Amino acid sequence: MNARAAHLSEVYPTLPFQPVTGEGVYLEDAQQRRVLDFYGGHAVAGLGYGHPRLTEALLTQGRQLLFQSNAVTMRIRDEAADKLAAFAPDGLDRVFFVNSGAEANENALRLALQTTGRRKIVAIEHGFHGRTAAAGAVTWGARDRWYGFPNTPMDVTFVPRNDTTALTAAIDKETAGVIIEPVQGVAGAFDFSKPFMTAARAACDVSGALLILDEVQTGIGRLGTPFGADYFDVSPDLITTAKSLGGGFPCGAVLMRDELTKDLGPGALGTTFGGGPLACALIVAVLDTIEEDGLLTQVTEVSALIRQTCICGPITSVQGAGFLLGLKTAPRAATVRDALLERNILAGTSGDPHILRLLPALILQPSHVETLAQALEELTDESFQ
Ligand SMILES: Cc1ncc(COP(=O)(O)O)c(C=O)c1O
Repeated sequence: MNARAAHLSEVYPTLPFQPVTGEGVYLEDAQQRRVLDFYGGHAVAGLGYGHPRLTEALLTQGRQLLFQSNAVTMRIRDEAADKLAAFAPDGLDRVFFVNSGAEANENALRLALQTTGRRKIVAIEHGFHGRTAAAGAVTWGARDRWYGFPNTPMDVTFVPRNDTTALTAAIDKETAGVIIEPVQGVAGAFDFSKPFMTAARAACDVSGALLILDEVQTGIGRLGTPFGADYFDVSPDLITTAKSLGGGFPCGAVLMRDELTKDLGPGALGTTFGGGPLACALIVAVLDTIEEDGLLTQVTEVSALIRQTCICGPITSVQGAGFLLGLKTAPRAATVRDALLERNILAGTSGDPHILRLLPALILQPSHVETLAQALEELTDESFQ
């Protein structure tokens, strides 16, 4: 049991494990209990823990200059933007740095509404985009559960997943933008069909709406490609990303087509912390490491191994892509997560009560998958009573 916090707002259900250090894909508590992490802190620890290149970048930049705002230009900020634009699909040449996924989506949605002069956004059932006013408005189920604002800042139409006919019908001349997670993360690693993604692009082309891919979870190599846009071979107008972008340092970005920014003058977008030098130094280190260590290929290969070897014990099938995987569980996923944690393996749950979510670091090795497969195999019906 966790001790009750004296002052923290207790809005999170927490697990019975308190990490104090981390190395590679392992976390350790004060009693030297080592836990193999398949969850990556909600997909943030993309390079695992204590990665020497990240630590080095953090220390070097911290000693050099901890912070300066966007009131001055900085070489490290330009370098981070150049690298991110080069890593992103062709045509997304402009970068606006922010601090989180929700903030990235808030700005992308505003840009879509402003540049088209329209007032409707099309979103997908079961999607999650964050907890701010606009991002929450396009999040499925938020209004009933936690939204809290009396009105949403725009009209929103939700479309059922993979329903190409409904999607095409919903995207009309009033539609400013369509927002889609290429693989829905919080919903349980639900991957869309390629025809659905292609239809979204085609319908946006016909109506003049902007296609926004929310790659807060799927971006930065998680699907074994730089972005989900590459995985599905669709060209969005905007990509939002965050989570593992800074390898654990909080940051996010909006990537956009150059022509979308031509009317944006000084003051059109803004943030104090976004694009700070520490975040930028880490973004550069993350992108360099992914490229130089061949981590995209590693994700694809090790993901295939999970699919081959982990349908055993309580697992009946696997969905998702790369290292955003949903393991379908016969008992409730939370009970499988708890049983795995007792065996020192950390996995996550999702919005689907029968999907166990895996979001491991891109550095995960085949030997770690073997450990997971073995643990799953050992889970019998009695493990869940
Ligand atoms: C797809 C997606 N979009 C947006 C967000 C919100 O990101 P943040 O919590 O950094 O605001 C999340 C967070 O889980 C997410 O998974």
